Amino acid sequence: MTEPSAWVRMTQADPGHSAAYVQRFRDLAAGGMDLVGEARLVDAMLPRGSRVLDAGCGPGRVGGYLASVGHTVVGVDVDPVLIAAAEEDHPGPRWLVGDLAELDLPDRFDAIVCAGNVVTFLAPSTRGEVLRRFRTHLAEGGRAVVGFGAGRDYDFAVFLADARAAGLEPDLLLSSWHLHPFTAESDFLVAVLRPG
Ligand SMILES: C[S@@+](CC[C@H](N)C(=O)[O-])C[C@H]1O[C@@H](n2cnc3c(N)ncnc32)[C@H](O)[C@@H]1O
Repeated sequence: MTEPSAWVRMTQADPGHSAAYVQRFRDLAAGGMDLVGEARLVDAMLPRGSRVLDAGCGPGRVGGYLASVGHTVVGVDVDPVLIAAAEEDHPGPRWLVGDLAELDLPDRFDAIVCAGNVVTFLAPSTRGEVLRRFRTHLAEGGRAVVGFGAGRDYDFAVFLADARAAGLEPDLLLSSWHLHPFTAESDFLVAVLRPG
């Protein structure tokens, strides 16, 4: 059986957590905050009309933008409250409830974007499986882009070793979604991974 992610455990402990998360991002959007920096980077990697998986999509801010500029988007998230918000706020993409450790879609993607510290919420026993499934769901020439911060119990070196073991090699390592280079001192990683 798939070990539940830390996000699921958080929502079980605090049933209002997901609704508060949705509201926080709705308030930020209403206040004019730029919420699509990650999506702009992914868009720059792709020709128009590409197939994108938003892995751990939450309420859909990344996948929603990518669909709005002409990509075909599927979003998957384990939290049904967030998927309901994605459907309401960003109609267009296919929004699906599911655990990334059990991802099994007929689709193959030109890009998989996994933004917003999603990998740090994964149950450690599922990390390798999620990365293997990312690998399986990439189309020929496709790339996965994973971003997360330091200090969240998933060491960058361990993540990159897990990715290699799953058949994903680093194509480019950045320390931000705004193209700053990754260094030994970086406290954020954006890993662009390609099948090895
Ligand atoms: C901080 S939120 C980020 C949401 C979105 N990626 C964004 O950046 O706006 C983390 C998300 O990871 C999702 N998540 C965590 N573990 C997951 C899993 N095993 N499978 C699918 N989604 C998961 C949570 O449900 C939550 O939506």
